[in-house]
Amino acid sequence: MSPPHHFLRLSDLPTETLSRLIDRAIALKNRRDPQHRPLLGKVLAMVFAKSSTRTRVSFETAMAQLGGHALFLSPRDTQLGRGEPVEDTTRVLSSMCDAVMVRNDSQAQQAAMAAVSTVPIINGLSEACHPCQLLADIQTVVEARGSIEGARVAWIGDGNNVCHSWLEAASLFGFELRVATPEGFEPDPDWVAAAGEQARLLRDPAEASEGADVVVTDVWASMGQEEEHARRCEAFAGYRVDEALMTRATSEAIFLHCLPAHRGEEVDAAVIDGPRSRVWQEAENRLHAQKALLEALLAPAGTPGAVTLVN
Ligand code: CP
Ligand code: NVA
Repeated sequence: MSPPHHFLRLSDLPTETLSRLIDRAIALKNRRDPQHRPLLGKVLAMVFAKSSTRTRVSFETAMAQLGGHALFLSPRDTQLGRGEPVEDTTRVLSSMCDAVMVRNDSQAQQAAMAAVSTVPIINGLSEACHPCQLLADIQTVVEARGSIEGARVAWIGDGNNVCHSWLEAASLFGFELRVATPEGFEPDPDWVAAAGEQARLLRDPAEASEGADVVVTDVWASMGQEEEHARRCEAFAGYRVDEALMTRATSEAIFLHCLPAHRGEEVDAAVIDGPRSRVWQEAENRLHAQKALLEALLAPAGTPGAVTLVN
């Protein structure tokens, strides 16, 4: 039996496959066929060690709409919270379920799960990256401009997990990414290196936004950094995406945010609730993009329209 495909970071799949997943997500969104239930009898285990609204609801809804089922598991209610080794839990989950989605603060632990799992492990966010978010984000850009290739994207704020996935996407999809962060909040050098010549690190948000087709930001304090909130708000003053910053971008530019958002911190209400914002479409696209991913990972061979993964 061939080893399972895992999706721990975007580059776990070739660019061509990622592009076909985006096209498939758009097709599934436009068709919304209730008879399309290729995951009948399939079960996705979802291990959430951190809070979630969009990721949980989109995966659970995707499984239900495709004919399968999803299990919500938190450390509080499972033996994970009482110290069962994550590898042991994974062996058991993968003997009963068809895939495991995990959200935690350890990319290394997710890799350890993948090492012992007989079914796909999907990263639903780690401290390092958020690949499922980028599937939806790229879908949103493709819907707005037809393609992301050759676009200029400005990332404003914290060089965090979502920024890392944008860096990876820049090299995979061939767009320019300008990252503006305060000193000390730059993305991890390994992720910057992965972006190669597609990425530029800057200090000045205005310079990053100049001529941008997409302006994107995220919270200043991610989950687990709550105690740093006040210090971070000071450090990030001047990095808020407001209307003045948006005027630097092209007249067609769109605004993205993975959500949840803090109006008055990383983004002004006038921007996130304004005409350039695509954040609700972006959030909804989590459902469609993950349907395309789940179908590719779990649907039987020959399922019409499903993306085929090659080992
Ligand atoms: N964007 C995102 O992952 O949202 P949740 O934390 O609500 O899942
Ligand atoms: N950077 C944020 C993303 C939330 C979806 C966090 O890790 O909390």
